[in-house]
Amino acid sequence: MGHLEILGGPALSGTVRVGGAKNAALPIMAAALLAPQPVELRGVPRLGDVDTLSRLLESLGVRVSRQDDRARLETVDPTPVKADYELVRRMRASFCVLGPLLARRGSAVVALPGGCAIGDRPVDLHLSGLRALGAELTTEHGYVVARAPRLVGATMDLTGPRGPSVTATANVMSAAVLAEGLTTVAGAAVEPEVVDLGRFLVALGAKIEGLGTPTLRIHGPATLGGAAHAIIPDRIEAATLLLAAAITGGDVRVEGVRPEHLGKVLAVLKAIGRRVETGSNWARVRGGDRPKAIDVTARPYPGVPSDLQAQWMAVLSLADGRGVVRDMVFPGRFMHVAELKRLGARIEVVNGAAHVTGVERLGGADVAATDLRAGAALALAGLAAHGRTNVFGLEHLDRGYERLDEKLAALGARVRRVPLA
Ligand code: EPZ
Repeated sequence: MGHLEILGGPALSGTVRVGGAKNAALPIMAAALLAPQPVELRGVPRLGDVDTLSRLLESLGVRVSRQDDRARLETVDPTPVKADYELVRRMRASFCVLGPLLARRGSAVVALPGGCAIGDRPVDLHLSGLRALGAELTTEHGYVVARAPRLVGATMDLTGPRGPSVTATANVMSAAVLAEGLTTVAGAAVEPEVVDLGRFLVALGAKIEGLGTPTLRIHGPATLGGAAHAIIPDRIEAATLLLAAAITGGDVRVEGVRPEHLGKVLAVLKAIGRRVETGSNWARVRGGDRPKAIDVTARPYPGVPSDLQAQWMAVLSLADGRGVVRDMVFPGRFMHVAELKRLGARIEVVNGAAHVTGVERLGGADVAATDLRAGAALALAGLAAHGRTNVFGLEHLDRGYERLDEKLAALGARVRRVPLA
């Protein structure tokens, strides 16, 4: 995999286009298991995670053909029901096959996703939601073993200890499409990626009301067919690129994004002193003064996403003053703090909050990504640091960002991918 070598300094400028949303493409590809006819997707990003899920779906009897940002998925063998540990362990989102597999094939054996660098990743809400629909689920030897000769619509509340669950909502909504009768889900996630999945299910023939609100009503069983669907743009990639402009004092216009999906991120960019302009499918950030220090708390949508918390911490590392960063979704998501400190950031984690005291300058160093968003944060810090920064752990970055180094270089960054010696 190698590493990224970044020579910090240049203020980024120019226009860049974002790709399709990873966290919409993954649950939508998993939900293709429900479709008795072929599914045609556009805007599928070329990412490691998409490759992994494609392999998992192939092992489950779905032929996946990809060409550029298009994917065609067709079930050719509806008998396999086991999602193997070897594939699921690589990517937690693989767990999204549980609901569709169970609903369409009547049983499923899916490896429990492991923990990861951002903290504990329980699946209790997934299991309780599917049980409410009448599924029998046990956990045996690291697998969820599920049976559901028939699913029956139910009323449930999926609210978790830290708010809604994105992929639990995805699993339960997908399964409820084939349940007999009305399913009402309170505490549903409202992230744009969940709405996009819901729209895909409706395109297949499902009847879903309340998409984008915390209460979903799913009328089943639906008679499903095939569908053609365009994946929404990746709001996390778009915001990461806007933050690359903010941290280097540049002027960048990101195209193909839906500004309304950026939620509070644009307000926070203005709060640190950046000029923000938006159009129907673009957003532009400019302004070169030193960022103002503010507090940033990651929350469920439409709050600042947890997937941007590390990137915001990188920006605040250079701010004029002190800012406190909290993550209400993954409270322990601070593995990037130690790496940012190697670049000279002044950050202390006290009682689950990261206190960032902005410094005048960061200095280049060797750093390692612990998860894909931490990798992005370290790349951003390297863009502004004086000297050379080597970001190791590219396998994380490539899981969730399509050619990030090339997009940054096209905006004037001095970054190159150094292959493993
Ligand atoms: C999705 O993960 C995203 N992944 C994550 O993005 C994102 O950080 C997260 O949502 C929050 O927005 C995909 O969509 C593939 P959750 P998910 O279930 O669904 C707790 C990235 O970088 N919880 O919404 O796994 C959980 O511990 C990834 O692209 C339970 O308690 O997250 C957390 O505190 C990282 N029980 C909170 O809910 C459960 O059964 C939100 O988790 C499930 C979750």
